[in-house]
Amino acid sequence: MTLPLNGIKIIDFTHVQAGPACTQLLAWFGADVIKVERPGSGDVTRTQLRDIPDVDALYFTMLNSNKRSLTLDTKKPDGKKILEQLIRESDVLVENFGPGALDRMGFSWERINELNPKMIVASVKGFSDGHHYEDLKVYENVAQCAGGAASTTGFWDGPPTVSAAALGDSNTGMHLAIGILTAIIGRQQTGKGQKVAVSMQDAVLNLCRVKLRDQQRLDRLGFLEEYPQYPHGEFSDVVPRGGNAGGGGQPGWVLKCKGWETDPNAYIYFTIQGHAWEPICKALGKPEWISDPNYSTAKARQPHIFDIFKTIEEWLADKTKYEAVDILRKFDIPCSPVLSMKEIAEDPSLRASGSITEVPHKERGSYLTVGSPIKFSDLKPEITGSPLLGEHSEEVLAGLGYAAEDIKRLRESQVI
Ligand code: COA
Repeated sequence: MTLPLNGIKIIDFTHVQAGPACTQLLAWFGADVIKVERPGSGDVTRTQLRDIPDVDALYFTMLNSNKRSLTLDTKKPDGKKILEQLIRESDVLVENFGPGALDRMGFSWERINELNPKMIVASVKGFSDGHHYEDLKVYENVAQCAGGAASTTGFWDGPPTVSAAALGDSNTGMHLAIGILTAIIGRQQTGKGQKVAVSMQDAVLNLCRVKLRDQQRLDRLGFLEEYPQYPHGEFSDVVPRGGNAGGGGQPGWVLKCKGWETDPNAYIYFTIQGHAWEPICKALGKPEWISDPNYSTAKARQPHIFDIFKTIEEWLADKTKYEAVDILRKFDIPCSPVLSMKEIAEDPSLRASGSITEVPHKERGSYLTVGSPIKFSDLKPEITGSPLLGEHSEEVLAGLGYAAEDIKRLRESQVI
């Protein structure tokens, strides 16, 4: 099957999660992604949190499918020469080293641009160039704290809280993928490559846009009507943590269902959409609330919204989360069961759509991974297993014109 990114060659100088998530996505859509790794060790995630001794960890396999692996010591002269050759014939170089590492290796943007003016160089860093923290190394939770997510997540009487979702890592990788594709289209018009950079702080902040909205509303009004602190609690001058409150115009909350005492995920998320008030009252068996002035408008409901949620919980007490959603969906009420990772792993709909997919691996057997969340009418990415360390070194070097004896010499001198 011809894929849209066939013919795009990517030097994947990424590690851990943010960069690999980006290049994996591009590989699914057809790019030839050559993962360049240090001989002997490779990406640190190959060995992190292993579940099977001496076999690539799921952390690695789930972020590096559809790629080829080339081991290369790019600090040795022969390694630098090979990287230069690769740069001359590739389209994109993606990296997420610590600040300045690529420059120290001798591959500054200026040098790469000199080697191949069409090359797109895409980088993830913790903070953007020129930021007063630009020299910092950054991991996921650091970015969530720097980007506004942690200060606005959690409960008001608890500490700042990070999300389990990889807002700093994979989210930054997705932003970078958009940047790379834009630069490729730009190059079609200008013939020139360019530098594309996304900082993890900026990528988190981009998802916290509504919290910056709230800061400005708070500055002007002194309160935020959709937060649990309104109208009975206190506001300071910063956006508070709102627990499980809905971030938009509709109040919502996580509500207990049958079995919550023993099952940590026996909950649903329930949203009270303004125009759905009438169906909600009907679903709950509370038709008298439809025209009651204490309940009939969103403004009237807000002062006692938690009493309303309590009433809904009473209605939910004899229903499992699935039974509840099956009733509520008939009334057009936006809601969902709170799903555990086990339930997600076994979900037949996610399997059917390819969002959860089973992938073969040469050493570990098959494993589950998250497939493409982007669906196309004419393209269904086939997810293949991740490469073993250096699995494609000989193939890549042969493609660059190296003879078998040269490859042997490079291996003996630990360049590859
Ligand atoms: N051959 C030779 N050297 C290599 C190499 C290769 N194939 N691949 C990497 N290296 C070297 C680098 O050149 C660097 O050397 P230097 O520091 O002597 O210049 C060294 O390995 C370490 O790189 P670095 O990226 O700084 O690793 P780290 O383990 O200390 O830090 C991070 C890890 C993730 C904190 C850091 O890379 C970072 O902040 N990256 C940017 C933000 C990011 O992506 N965070 C992670 C999100 S999942």
